[in-house]
Amino acid sequence: MSEHKIKKRIAIFISGRGSNMKAILDNVQSGILKDMCEVVLVFSNRADAKGLETAKSYGIDTKVIESSGKKRTEFDKQVIDLLGSYQFDYIVLAGYMRILSPVFVDTYKNRIINIHPADTNLYHGIHGYEWAWESKRDSTKITVHLVDKGVDTGKILSQREVDIKGLTSLEQVEEKGLKVEHEFYSETLNKIFTGEIVI
Ligand code: GRF
Repeated sequence: MSEHKIKKRIAIFISGRGSNMKAILDNVQSGILKDMCEVVLVFSNRADAKGLETAKSYGIDTKVIESSGKKRTEFDKQVIDLLGSYQFDYIVLAGYMRILSPVFVDTYKNRIINIHPADTNLYHGIHGYEWAWESKRDSTKITVHLVDKGVDTGKILSQREVDIKGLTSLEQVEEKGLKVEHEFYSETLNKIFTGEIVI
């Protein structure tokens, strides 16, 4: 089989700065995801997401549908329509700040992956680093998980502990955590694509 045929195709969803997306694009270009993954689309629900410019600079197709003011299901159906003209194996959420509706999750069952900046056994929703910092934890756990119909409740695929003991500000916690996220997300995707992590 040619390399091209075995490459996994992914669509990355963002809403903002897109630093995790950028790390994935770098790894597809010349790192741990090289020759095993192709990014067919970067989608955003916000036209002002900074990551869109980054994606374009990598030559990736970008699309936007503004979610603001739309009902969740109505919006998600528009996204499903858009995705109909793409072929991909997985949707990789990377700072996508929108809860997915049941219709969306059912359409892409077991094909939506997310990174959460905390242990999803302990903390759901946004502000995961604030939670770890404010609850004075010595460590936190970055989680990559499947997306189901709940918020950060899907099957845990992999976790990585980050030591935050002795850090003196939330900014330091975020900085250290994000650095781990950038490596860990691609490493986990690699293991999913090779079958080492079974979905
Ligand atoms: C990351 O902390 C990620 O874990 C969470 O949202 C943040 C996105 O950051 N889901 P970025 O847009 O990838 O820089």
